[in-house]
Amino acid sequence: MSRSAAFDLLPGSDKNDVPAGIVQLNRSISRALRRQRGDFQYYDEPAGDPSLRQQIALRAAKRGWQAEVDELCITSGCQQSLFLALMAVCQQGDVVTVEAPGFYGVLQLLEQLGLQVVEIPASAETGLDVGAFEQTLQRWDIKACVVSPSFATPTGASMPLHARVHLIELAERHDLAIIEDDIYGESGWLVVPDTLKAVDHSNRVIHCSSLSKVLSRDLRLGWISGGRWHDDIVRLKLTSQLASSRFIQRGVADFFADGGYAAYLRRYRQQLQRQRDQLLDLLGTWSVPIRATSPAGGLALWLELPEHVDTIKLYNRALDEGIVITPGELFSMSGKFSNCLRLSFAHPWTRARAEALMRLPSLMA
Ligand SMILES: Cc1ncc(COP(=O)(O)O)c(C=O)c1O
Repeated sequence: MSRSAAFDLLPGSDKNDVPAGIVQLNRSISRALRRQRGDFQYYDEPAGDPSLRQQIALRAAKRGWQAEVDELCITSGCQQSLFLALMAVCQQGDVVTVEAPGFYGVLQLLEQLGLQVVEIPASAETGLDVGAFEQTLQRWDIKACVVSPSFATPTGASMPLHARVHLIELAERHDLAIIEDDIYGESGWLVVPDTLKAVDHSNRVIHCSSLSKVLSRDLRLGWISGGRWHDDIVRLKLTSQLASSRFIQRGVADFFADGGYAAYLRRYRQQLQRQRDQLLDLLGTWSVPIRATSPAGGLALWLELPEHVDTIKLYNRALDEGIVITPGELFSMSGKFSNCLRLSFAHPWTRARAEALMRLPSLMA
């Protein structure tokens, strides 16, 4: 199974259910398109529409980071932001650390760019093990560290403040870049953690995010704030993409400005919490012994099954039953986590979904 085939969609999600917030978003974008006059004949500025960047800066301010509009560049999603960050900081052959388990999209990028990878263990509750990272710095000449401090996938872990501060101190001491993947940051229903930028006093954090996980994957709208590498990053965006779609950016900026996004997000967070609880309740009825994380944000939880369960085999058996899961091995380069899997609670609960989950243990033999 390839990493690009991985997604976890149990049956029962209804693609036809469109939340009210998304209807409102679509209206804002349609209005922005209708307002467009001669713009269609021109490219937007490479860093993106200032009104959208202003709205992103306002949201950043709620998370401990007084971002300037000029510090932000719009991208076509967090994956592109991560790509631009790695391109700006690294040369082929450089060594980059990632969390294990961690997002497989980063592993694909590192492979594509010819970068060497060192995996740092991450706790399912508190994320990156900064002590292990410090030890790695004694042995390797590390160029960059890719980290998801808030609701990391696949576990939903969040790093405590002292670990974040320690990480930045290490980055300063060893002269390296921290590439923050903050795509799940705003999904938290108990707290919305500050970004790493809040403790970054030497501009070493490259902040990457998007609207894919909290609003729409299909918008293809993300952003990057490149710290001391920002000018290079904007140049790289210009040479690789020229510009982003102006009417989509303006429509989204209006949706933010008129309060539509904040209202939508409030409802969505409650929905995620409910769906997480429903998933945990159902897992509580399984007779197999499991360890499940219980994140307070993000879209998925991490399940540790008995040692003998091979979740790649489980994946294939489940697929025959029309159930798609994400095996743990995809979240590392080293074949670890073969008895683990990521389960999504991003989709509304349905009977088909619940039945599929009830069937999973019988496929583990
Ligand atoms: C942790 C993480 N980072 C980045 C991405 C890529 O996001 P985007 O759709 O904004 O490119 C994903 C998508 O699955 C993700 O889970």
